[in-house]
Amino acid sequence: MRRFKILATARALPPRVLTNAELETMIDTTDQWIVERTGIRERRIAAPEVATSDLAAEALLSACGAAGLEPDALDVLIVATSTPDTLFPSTACWVQHKLGLRGPAAFDVSAGCSGWLYGMELAASLIAGGGARTAAVVGAEVMSKVVNWEDRSTCVLFGDGAGAAILTACEEDRGLLGSAWGADGTLARVLYQPAGGTRQPASAESVAARAHTVHMEGNTVFKHAVTAMSEGAIEALKRAGVTPEDVTLLIPHQANTRIMEATRARTAIAPAKMVSIVDRYGNMSAATIPVALDEARAAGRLKDGDLVAMTAFGTGFTWAAQVLRV
Ligand code: ACO
Repeated sequence: MRRFKILATARALPPRVLTNAELETMIDTTDQWIVERTGIRERRIAAPEVATSDLAAEALLSACGAAGLEPDALDVLIVATSTPDTLFPSTACWVQHKLGLRGPAAFDVSAGCSGWLYGMELAASLIAGGGARTAAVVGAEVMSKVVNWEDRSTCVLFGDGAGAAILTACEEDRGLLGSAWGADGTLARVLYQPAGGTRQPASAESVAARAHTVHMEGNTVFKHAVTAMSEGAIEALKRAGVTPEDVTLLIPHQANTRIMEATRARTAIAPAKMVSIVDRYGNMSAATIPVALDEARAAGRLKDGDLVAMTAFGTGFTWAAQVLRV
């Protein structure tokens, strides 16, 4: 077991709500189609001047405040994102820039919707190995700026937001009991942003072709997501030596309710234990699990010693699942 305790969690969500009814006026879609296929009713959209680091910094500051900790007391700041402010430096460094924060090691994790759990895996290992005593893991995305707003098959799915957790070493019996993670890069092209990197640098042609936006084969993602998220969760439970009945909450990555429900059913965790926020926020990629965890904590759904099963799947493909004792 890799011991740590979560000192605090927090979330930052842009105030602007984009409803399905408003999407009906923008593209050829209906509220009914979106709700039936995805469970999403509305999502938050960042203002034009807001970047991922702005949401990440807001969530980080709130979490530090709730933990009674100055940000410079952190040893490491990990930001999980697929929508960085810039290709370099990392969004984590832009968070430091915004906060005037010097000192803590800072870097991004690029693992799509699995990113926050990848970040937790790293933070837990750093704390267990002595590389850090106190770590912040932030999941933050401004998906609305990489979505093609004329592509109805993708633009209805995503939303913007950030969630943060502050972890610190402890002697108590808490932290990651078991985990499973992996990736399959042979399927990289199923879900990706083609342009803007060194493969296809930005050009007038790439902008005209809308190659700087999400390209996705939704059906393929769907099938792989259900398999990887459920198998990952089952493996993490096994490695933790606990049963589905022992789990207080299941927090699956919030892409759509059909993926989440199929994952829950295969994992054999009771329906009432599943946290679902996708109806209000859509798919915020790396931010969905920390935001859901923070909302569950705020709602009093977790008490000391409870077990949380978390499982995610995303671009790459990547996947990760963990059993956390809070
Ligand atoms: N409104 C109305 N009709 C639509 C819309 C829309 N917004 N989008 C697609 N359609 C149409 C399609 O054009 C198609 O029409 P056709 O039969 O005339 O060609 C029809 O609906 C069915 O399309 P499918 O793609 O087969 O619909 P499906 O049931 O697979 O649902 C969806 C699509 C919701 C994207 C689904 O595949 C899915 O959720 N995939 C997972 C994708 C995902 O969550 N990705 C996020 C990143 S990865 C992750 O987070 C796990």
